[in-house]
Amino acid sequence: MSETKRVAWCITGSGHYLKESIDILYGMENIDLFLSKAGEEVLKWYDYDLKIFKKKGIKVFKDTTASSAPVSLLYEGVYNLVIVSPATSNTIAQMAYGLSDTLVTNMFAQAGKCKVHSIVFACDTEPTVITQAPKKPVTLYPREIELQNYENLKSFKNVDVVDTVNKLKSAIKNFNER
Ligand SMILES: Cc1cc2nc3c(=O)[nH]c(=O)nc-3n(C[C@H](O)[C@H](O)[C@H](O)COP(=O)(O)O)c2cc1C
Repeated sequence: MSETKRVAWCITGSGHYLKESIDILYGMENIDLFLSKAGEEVLKWYDYDLKIFKKKGIKVFKDTTASSAPVSLLYEGVYNLVIVSPATSNTIAQMAYGLSDTLVTNMFAQAGKCKVHSIVFACDTEPTVITQAPKKPVTLYPREIELQNYENLKSFKNVDVVDTVNKLKSAIKNFNER
């Protein structure tokens, strides 16, 4: 049996940095995709058909069970890296406070408990953010609570929290080289 460990790439309901995240994951191998319910919806808003991932051989896990059943794959040692990119403000808040009631926040929490490394790309990290809504760019002003949650998450062990595409690429490269 192959010893190759896989990457669990989690997509949440963020339009911000969605395209950039997908461009990066397309260039990687041994990836499975995990979607929050909002992630699944937002992919449709931005015209991504789940069939495209399946055609590329990427297995897609949707958020359809109360217990987040796919986390059992972490217990089986299938993954050595969990990436949450893009991560919404909601998911950042849940993760920073140790909550886990979506597939993605469960993957993050269980990765922590299994000592599996995580990389999180937080999108709302500046006082002003220009984001791509489905039809046009929009300027948003993240609140103090969003910035605080982002800062809190940075103190977690075994977790890299990044705030730019280049830092995401570097974190993945550093992980692969260690
Ligand atoms: C088109 C669209 C784009 C969105 N983009 C963002 C975003 O960039 N950042 C964000 O924090 N929430 C965004 N949202 C809102 C989230 O999808 C919503 O907060 C959702 O509850 C997040 O759930 P999740 O964190 O479980 O994926 C967007 C919603 C829509 C409809």
